[in-house]
Amino acid sequence: MTHILILNGPNLNLLGIRQPETYGTVTLADIEATCRREAKTLGVSIDFAQDNHEGGMIDLIHNSKADGIILNAGAYTHTSIALMDAISSVNKPVLELHLSNIHQREDFRHHSYISKVAFAMICGLGAQGYPLALRAMAAHLAP
Ligand code: DQA
Repeated sequence: MTHILILNGPNLNLLGIRQPETYGTVTLADIEATCRREAKTLGVSIDFAQDNHEGGMIDLIHNSKADGIILNAGAYTHTSIALMDAISSVNKPVLELHLSNIHQREDFRHHSYISKVAFAMICGLGAQGYPLALRAMAAHLAP
């Protein structure tokens, strides 16, 4: 069975209470539940993870048995060459995901190191982006 890791970076554990005008009121637990339902429909299995630390995220990427990774790297998107290198090192397709439209926001959010190594990017659709990303990754990995 196709296996997909959905990995969330720093501060995404606070979804629902963190800047709801930007990120919405849906919690990360709600998003995980939606992804688990979507995974059942698609016939794929998922791991759903969140880590506030760059090194922890890198370890999760290195150790994952997943066929593909959906990555919302949070602010590390804009700063982390190390996360970009971790993705390059595991040779797995990565779909970059953001709740907000990073190109509509501050200039420092317009650059993404993750985009350099991701095959696609979804942003600006809020929590709805997660099940869409899962569907897109499942299709990308389908034989
Ligand atoms: C984010 C966008 C990032 O710029 C920000 O630092 C986040 C969340 C998003 O999902 O919109 O933490 O990745």
